[in-house]
Amino acid sequence: MVDVERFIAQGVRNRSAYHVPPGEFPIKLDAMESPYRLPIELRDRWLHALREVSLNRYPSPDHYERVKARLAQDARLSVDTGVILGNGSDEILQNILLAMAREVTVVAPTPTFVMYEQIASILGRRFVGVPLKEDFGLDVEALRAALVRHAPALLFLAYPNNPTGTLYPESEIRALVAIDDAVVVVDEAYHPFAQASFMGTLADEPRLMVVRTLSKQGLAGLRFGWLAAHRSWIAELDKVRLPYNVSSVTAASIEFAFDYADVFADQAARIRAERGRLYEALRTQVTVWPSEANFLLFRPPVPEDADRIHGRLKAAGILIKNVAGAGGALRGCLRVTVGTPAENSAFLAALAQAL
Ligand SMILES: Cc1ncc(COP(=O)(O)O)c(C=O)c1O
Repeated sequence: MVDVERFIAQGVRNRSAYHVPPGEFPIKLDAMESPYRLPIELRDRWLHALREVSLNRYPSPDHYERVKARLAQDARLSVDTGVILGNGSDEILQNILLAMAREVTVVAPTPTFVMYEQIASILGRRFVGVPLKEDFGLDVEALRAALVRHAPALLFLAYPNNPTGTLYPESEIRALVAIDDAVVVVDEAYHPFAQASFMGTLADEPRLMVVRTLSKQGLAGLRFGWLAAHRSWIAELDKVRLPYNVSSVTAASIEFAFDYADVFADQAARIRAERGRLYEALRTQVTVWPSEANFLLFRPPVPEDADRIHGRLKAAGILIKNVAGAGGALRGCLRVTVGTPAENSAFLAALAQAL
């Protein structure tokens, strides 16, 4: 036998693989996917658009540039701001850390999106988590202290945050962006549900990068994310990006989706409306936190019941995310993605039973 461990980096050995629960669930509310598929008539048009893709060729750079130009135009980016595309925004986060010098410390308020720490650890980077306040707000002073102490530092801010749903005040983020010797990556994965953005700030803030994904707005299966930042960042990140990282099928599908932005906007509006209903209904049964994303974090009256409730829902064919295992501020917490009105009603009924 090969002593595999001797060959594997410690940061990899120390972690577990990202777990995606297997199995089919009639109601799947665990991963912040959109509950809405493309309308049937659009699926036919999409397939028609895909017929033009030359699968025998590598993805064309012209295609890549067209997608970038369209994103820049829609986001009204300044001429000094560039764009890079990724196979999901996860890949972009990884590319950012791959490009960073060894001495750069990765900082994030915690709890937050687990991949920030996961990627940092796997790449052998120092990660410093700064606990959120009890109400899941930013501890700006503690973050400032961490950024200064561990300079040069890169701060990841999920805006709104996952798994809490919190949208931090813009002024607090601006205060952090103003710190010397730090770079701030604002991760706007849930932008369609929060409708707040730092894209418009990029032209004045060369130490800010903004990441987006299409995963939460109905296109998770495509794996497509993008980053906007000053061109000096893009030039470096482009060296790390693997050639052809966005497939021709994805690029063609994204171009297709640009023409139906109103369909996706309408789906997001429906999810925002349902989020309000779900929040009000949950409030009568559990502790639930306000959310500007497409999910809600909640804690049952008896926090120790979280595992049992998660299991009961699962047995009823409803998958949500059990984040209680993380402990700390997430003790006893569960996270539910906003689904269709029918799915949300079924979830609420099953939860009432489980409680
Ligand atoms: C804050 C945040 N950023 C990024 C991602 C990853 O998205 P993608 O599907 O684009 O890799 C997620 C997924 O849950 C997320 O919550």
